[in-house]
Amino acid sequence: MTAAVTLWERGRLDARVGPRQVLFGRMYEDASIELDAFQPGSRIFCIASAGCTAMKLAPHHEVVAVDINPVQLAYAERRFDGDLGFRGKAERVMDFARFFGPLAGWWPSRVRAFLHLDDPAEQMEYWQRHLNTWRFRTALDGLFSLIALRSVYAPRLLDFLPKRLGVVMRGRMERCFERHPNRSNPYARSLLLGELAPDPPPPEAKDIRLVHADAAEFLEQEAPGSFDGFTLSNILDGVDDAYEQRLFAAVKRAAAPGAATVLRSFGDTNASSPANRAADDRAMLWGSVLVRPAAEL
Ligand SMILES: C[S@@+](CC[C@H](N)C(=O)[O-])C[C@H]1O[C@@H](n2cnc3c(N)ncnc32)[C@H](O)[C@@H]1O
Repeated sequence: MTAAVTLWERGRLDARVGPRQVLFGRMYEDASIELDAFQPGSRIFCIASAGCTAMKLAPHHEVVAVDINPVQLAYAERRFDGDLGFRGKAERVMDFARFFGPLAGWWPSRVRAFLHLDDPAEQMEYWQRHLNTWRFRTALDGLFSLIALRSVYAPRLLDFLPKRLGVVMRGRMERCFERHPNRSNPYARSLLLGELAPDPPPPEAKDIRLVHADAAEFLEQEAPGSFDGFTLSNILDGVDDAYEQRLFAAVKRAAAPGAATVLRSFGDTNASSPANRAADDRAMLWGSVLVRPAAEL
């Protein structure tokens, strides 16, 4: 297995030896992309992670949710049963960064006022005047410098990232604020305030099939033509070409005619693809969110 897949399988974001962890208390992927991409009533493969996407899809689709980290999978299962969940490792890293917000002028009251706005033009004005401060820009550049990230994340999870990541991430945030109303954007609240969306499970969550497996390995064993849609999170970030080709071959084999795929990446490599819907994703973090027919992988 490729190094990044092994890393997820070990259930840790860092390179240390230790027990597997719940890495994501919530997902930072806007499932409205998937709801738009997949035909209602169809059968969908998704990555389980914290279970958010599976729960959003479940009222409209038959959902199979797969994860290679058994601890993360058990967490998703508890959420499907109504458990509110808790902060995972990723949220705790973000909490640490947010703790220093007031030093950059990011007082909670100021951030809350920003998140209450629902006119993108007003949002941009407020952003430029109160939040996009010199101190914020300097702090973000420092936080996202690859040297700082290397102290928290395993190198394999970072190598594909764009250079000058602070500038790139600020650009992605602004892309979101100038397009989507903050007030109705749960991802803006979770990113800027650290609030976990309540996301109660729909009744159909009990029908989600959860599987502990590697995505490619699982799909290779499923019946040919048995899925109408695939949402692959960003599991190809940091993997080698051989794994990517293996996963794409498995997806194509398991895909029914006309099946659609959604694939995210933090990287910028596919940013200019016509299939890139990253600007529509209110989670705002992504370099690319490729929505493509499985046949075109
Ligand atoms: C790729 S991570 C990224 C987090 C995600 N963007 C989110 O917002 O939740 C999501 C999940 O994918 C799982 N994962 C990574 N590679 C996988 C693979 N090859 N097969 C199955 N699950 C995988 C991880 O264990 C993790 O729970």
